[in-house]
Amino acid sequence: MDDKQAQRDEESSSHPQAGRERMILPQPISMLGTGNPGTEKTMLQRMSAQRVFMMGDNPALPRMPRAPKLLDFFRLRFTEIAFRHLLQSAKTALAAGQDEKIVIACLLHDISNGALLRTEHGYWSAQLVAPYVSDEVAWAIRYHQALRYFADEAVGFKYPDAYDQFFGADYQPPEYIQQAHREARAHRWYMTSRLITIYDTYSFRDDWCVDPEEFTDIIGRNFRQPREGLGFDGSPTAHMWRTMIWPNNFL
Ligand SMILES: [Fe+2]
Ligand SMILES: [Fe+2]
Repeated sequence: MDDKQAQRDEESSSHPQAGRERMILPQPISMLGTGNPGTEKTMLQRMSAQRVFMMGDNPALPRMPRAPKLLDFFRLRFTEIAFRHLLQSAKTALAAGQDEKIVIACLLHDISNGALLRTEHGYWSAQLVAPYVSDEVAWAIRYHQALRYFADEAVGFKYPDAYDQFFGADYQPPEYIQQAHREARAHRWYMTSRLITIYDTYSFRDDWCVDPEEFTDIIGRNFRQPREGLGFDGSPTAHMWRTMIWPNNFL
């Protein structure tokens, strides 16, 4: 047996459902509207003793530590673009002399885009981190989604050029986003959320690598990492972290 074969055997025996083909059904939400409605039925028909639906560690993904911390998700799960964007935003806020609550808010603001969901990302991101950050930081992350659509010239924020490219120059945000913007404007934490949008603007460079370790101390002081690891602490969002650890589970 050659080395590669030995490695493959070792790999597959250390994963669940050894010796069987493990099918991955895409999440229903990622299939809706894509013109691919038959996948679930077809895969159920292909099921056999030798072909099951994947549960647990996927060998195609790096294995997460038993008690994963925030930066483990950054390194082992997030898309490259989300990884860079969050670190660059946080670094820009830090270099501008912002205090730690702004830096941590920038570091986490689009976290759901990393490996969970893009749609409604401000709301998903806020919910994901809410058990571990201050109320103000979670609030700011929630509202940044809406604030990005509305200029505030007084503090130097204009409507992003990128949004004209993403959505077309004639795009108008829906009423619930306009309502969220009005609520945020009237709130005492408005500037916390607005600052996220300010450090967001300039942070899509792919020639600039920020080392996540730079934020270890700020995370330590502003993000309550559970001893059991994210996903295993019984918090109201633990299941969302587990979904990122095992994104291909059938159920
Ligand atoms: Fe965002
Ligand atoms: Fe962003």
